Amino acid sequence: MNMILKFALPLLAIALVAMAPAAVRAAMLEDDQYDVPYVPTPMKTVGRMLEMAKVKPSDVLYDLGSGDGRIVISAVRDYGALRAVGVDINPVRIRESNENARKAGVTDKVKFYEANIFEHDFSEASVLLMYLLTEVNLKLRPKILATLKPGTRVVTHDFDMGEWEPDDVASMDGFRHVYMWIVPANVDGTWEVTAGGAKYPLVLEQFFQQLSGSVQLAGKTVAFRTGHLDGVNVTFEANALSGNNATPAIYTAKATGAGALEGTIDIGGKKVAFTARRTGPSPAIDAPRSK
Ligand SMILES: C[S@@+](CC[C@H](N)C(=O)[O-])C[C@H]1O[C@@H](n2cnc3c(N)ncnc32)[C@H](O)[C@@H]1O
Repeated sequence: MNMILKFALPLLAIALVAMAPAAVRAAMLEDDQYDVPYVPTPMKTVGRMLEMAKVKPSDVLYDLGSGDGRIVISAVRDYGALRAVGVDINPVRIRESNENARKAGVTDKVKFYEANIFEHDFSEASVLLMYLLTEVNLKLRPKILATLKPGTRVVTHDFDMGEWEPDDVASMDGFRHVYMWIVPANVDGTWEVTAGGAKYPLVLEQFFQQLSGSVQLAGKTVAFRTGHLDGVNVTFEANALSGNNATPAIYTAKATGAGALEGTIDIGGKKVAFTARRTGPSPAIDAPRSK
């Protein structure tokens, strides 16, 4: 089946270009030089994307490959974002976007850059939207994880991020999908926990927002039962002691800007404050090991 599709789809594409009216044909061929063709997101789906991104008044939103500017304009006009920025490589789209922003009366809150998304700095974004292709998302993924602040929401239309599983998915009209991810803090590595006067080693193994690992208690390695990251919020559960009558210990912490963990351990309902500091390097998140 895959083999048939592999050969049939290019032939179908050629037939469609040949059959299209001259103006449409010119646009299709012009688009062919870019990483992704121009296909606008229907406004109903734009609304769903912005709702899933939970846009708030302090947000700076970026749309990578912003087309006619509809997502950028709707973010400030309909969802109250502080500012919104579109990046598109096609000068025709940038002209349309500026004209649409003028008509919508939002030129003071939006900016459109004629630029290549792979070269443009979008690190100030607190919300990132994309309607690109999975292979393009995957090329952008290391930059997204390395440069965006933890807690930044990333929303895509129809195309996912490979093994980085979404934190939320919505289906639209039976065939469209909207995906949402929260950029996790980087906590991968070795740590030392200080809690209730004791110090002990902690190993965090991060796979995007999923955490596994272990603590070393009384010379024994106690593996986590569960672990998760929601932006800077870290939770994992281990047993307070290994052995038959072990009590669950639920660790809840924030990864601070200074690269430390600060939180509490809930041991059978009793709460103990803890901090942790790194004792080893901090590897990039997007160099995933197999699970
Ligand atoms: C599928 S459209 C999405 C348009 C808009 N985001 C929307 O959802 O309505 C993809 C857009 O990406 C732009 N594009 C493709 N490759 C690009 C690149 N390397 N850098 C910047 N823009 C690119 C195309 O010009 C097109 O406007």
